[in-house]
Amino acid sequence: MSSQNTEILGTSDQDLRRAADLLKAGQLVSFPTETVYGLGADARNGEAVAAVYETKGRPSFNPLIAHVHSTQAAQELVQWNSVADRLAKAFWPGPLTLVLPLREGHGISGLVTAGLSTLAVRVPAQPTALRLLEHVGGPVAAPSANPSGRISPTSAAHVLAGLSGKITAVVDDGPCSVGVESTILGLAGPAPVLLRPGGLAAEEIETVLGRSLVQRDAADPLTAPGQLLSHYAPQASVRLNASKAREGELLLGFGPMNCDLSLSETGDLAQAAANLFDHLHRLDAKGCPIAVAPIPEHGLGVAINDRLRRAAAPRS
Ligand code: TXA
Ligand code: MG
Repeated sequence: MSSQNTEILGTSDQDLRRAADLLKAGQLVSFPTETVYGLGADARNGEAVAAVYETKGRPSFNPLIAHVHSTQAAQELVQWNSVADRLAKAFWPGPLTLVLPLREGHGISGLVTAGLSTLAVRVPAQPTALRLLEHVGGPVAAPSANPSGRISPTSAAHVLAGLSGKITAVVDDGPCSVGVESTILGLAGPAPVLLRPGGLAAEEIETVLGRSLVQRDAADPLTAPGQLLSHYAPQASVRLNASKAREGELLLGFGPMNCDLSLSETGDLAQAAANLFDHLHRLDAKGCPIAVAPIPEHGLGVAINDRLRRAAAPRS
C-alpha cells in the first residue's frame, strides 16, 4: 500500500463534492456517521472495495454495509418486504442496518457481500453523511474506519491515528452522536434476526414490529459473519464488571462512583454509548490495564456490553 498525504476535508459543499469525486474515482474516504466514522469506497468498484479490506487488514470473509441516502435508493439494491418497510419508516435515517436478499441488477461488487446473496444496507442519520451520499449518487460500502480488530473511531482524530497516510481523505464533522455501530437485523429469512446489537435498542424494534426478535445463532457463522470474538480491542488488557480498580489499573466508570474516567456519571446509557470508544481510546493511550464498571444489560447497554466483552476477550 502506498503512503500518501491524507486530506482533511470539512463540511462545506465544495469539500463534500471533493469527497464524492474521490469516492467516484475509486479512492478511500473516511466520513462521519451518527454511529462511528466509516471507511468509504464505491460499493460497485471491486478494486476500491479490495483496498478497504487491504487498508483495514480485515479478513475478506467479513462483508460490508452499503450506505445509501434514501429508502428508495436501498430498494434499488435489495428485495424489499413489508417488515423492512415498517422499520425503514420508523427508524431511517438512523443506526439500523437491514440485511435483505440482493436484487437483480444491483451492481454491487461481490467483495462487499463476501459472496453472500444478501446485502446489508443502511441510511445513516448524520446530515453530512447524507449530503455526501447524495453527491455520490450510489451505494458507498463502509466498515468502521479503524485497523481490523482495533477500537472503532468516533472522531476524525481517531481515524487519523489508525489510518493516516493509508487513505486519501477524511471528512471531519466532529464526534459521533450515537457512538456504537448500527444495530444489524437479518430480514432475509422467515423471522427477523438480531445479528448485532447496536445503536438502536432491540426493544424499540420489537415495539414497532409487535414481536420479539430471534437472537442470532452464535454457532452459525453465516448468520453473523465477522462477529469475531476478540474485536474492538485496546492494546491494554480489559477487565469487566469491576467495582474498583486494582493496583495499576485505570477504572472506566458508569454511574456515581470513584473512577479515572466515567462513561456517564448519571448512569445514562445513550451518553455512555457516545463516550465508549473515545474513552477506551483515551485510557488505552495511557498504557495501563483497564477495568470497567458493570453496565446494565438492557437498551443500549446490550450493545455496550457486547463491545466490552469483545474488547476483553483473549486475543488470538
Ligand atoms: O454503524 C455502523 O454500522 C458502521 C458505520 C460506518 O455505518 N459500520 C460498521 O461496519 O460497523 P462494519 O463493517 O464494522 O460491520 C458490519 C457488520 C459486520 O459484522 C458484517 O459481518 C455484517 O455487518 N454484515 C454485512 N453484510 C452482511 C450480510 N449480508 N449478512 C450478515 N451480516 C452482514
Ligand atoms: Mg468495525
